[in-house]
Amino acid sequence: MSTVPVQTPGGSYPIHIDAGRLKRLAESIPEDATAIALISNPTVSAYYGELASQALAKTGKRLISIELPDGEAHKDWQTLNLIFDALLQNRLDRKAVLVALGGGVIGDMCGFAAACYMRGVRFVQVPTTLLAQVDSSVGGKTGINHPLGKNMVGAFYQPISVEIDTNVLATLPAREISAGLAEVIKYGLIIDAEFFAWCEQNVEKLRALDPQAITYAIQRSCELKAYVVSQDERESGLRAILNFGHTFGHAIESGLGYGQWLHGEAVGCGMVLAAELSALTHGLSADSVERVRALVAAIGCPVLPPDLGAERWIELMQVDKKTEGGQLRFVTLPEIGQARFEAAPLVAVHRVLENVSIAQT
Ligand code: NAD
Ligand code: GLY
Repeated sequence: MSTVPVQTPGGSYPIHIDAGRLKRLAESIPEDATAIALISNPTVSAYYGELASQALAKTGKRLISIELPDGEAHKDWQTLNLIFDALLQNRLDRKAVLVALGGGVIGDMCGFAAACYMRGVRFVQVPTTLLAQVDSSVGGKTGINHPLGKNMVGAFYQPISVEIDTNVLATLPAREISAGLAEVIKYGLIIDAEFFAWCEQNVEKLRALDPQAITYAIQRSCELKAYVVSQDERESGLRAILNFGHTFGHAIESGLGYGQWLHGEAVGCGMVLAAELSALTHGLSADSVERVRALVAAIGCPVLPPDLGAERWIELMQVDKKTEGGQLRFVTLPEIGQARFEAAPLVAVHRVLENVSIAQT
């Protein structure tokens, strides 16, 4: 087993990474917990609900299970309320611990529920998608979508531990693996050029879930994310670089309707657009733009965005937490492994979007 420490003002905790970690979930529950609420969805529950329940039962504590509908389209107030309903109906108190067993949707909603229930209860992240293992379970961003914008309602709230079982990836559809790999290569692009090159060399192993390669990719991603969030938990500066490709990506997700493209697919394609923007604004070389495009394609994510129409793109991108005073701000790369975060000239953004229209015709 490997352990990656995360240290933030809002809480310090370990990320445990191991094949078979699910069986040892009881170790993540504090002695003084009065009850455990295991929160999942029918898809994940069918595979791992029993295993997780049996492992948690070893604590001897009262255990309730809450099942939420599956999918990004359900990451909303209505579904969040189902958690509060169950916690209150079962009279869980302030010392209860919530356990999020699922992908980023379950993790983000469970974390937000933990932040709000009785003004804050402890929670454990048990991420079961690659994307959640390398990104969403770490760093304490929690929340839900609003019809007008992605992840627009939420809180920074850290878990007490992150428990990663690499075995659970075996049941994940290939499309979800590709989406998770988009976030993996993002770390290389923004902060670790050597890791990006390693991903290029190992892409087939990663897609095939070669145990050694995928475990290294998860561990390195967690280390890099832990480093960034420990410098800037609440995204007042450095943390913004984790959003490379996300401004374009979120516009794709909300423009097409949540759930049409997977979050990681939209981010993958968004990174290609952000690389093109970087070429215009920061002189990223044509060769580097092509490396980004080639690796996004090689992991199995789309590189050609939908043609939403330039005005609609801008409108959608303005509903972004990075926008300030109505001005669009982007994460860009002067070179692979280095990121900048600043306002982008609208004319450059339009040039990138014009190329999208041309590529579609
Ligand atoms: P997801 O949670 O919808 O999971 C994808 C699908 O895989 C779902 O149908 C799920 O039920 C299924 N699934 C999960 N684990 C499985 C397994 N082991 N075997 C088989 N099927 C399994 O999607 P996701 O990609 O994990 O997460 C995307 C969400 O994460 C988005 O809402 C995004 O905004 C959020 N996110 C948050 C952060 C953050 O920092 N909090 C970072 C990145 C993304
Ligand atoms: N996924 C972006 C962040 O955690 O900040």
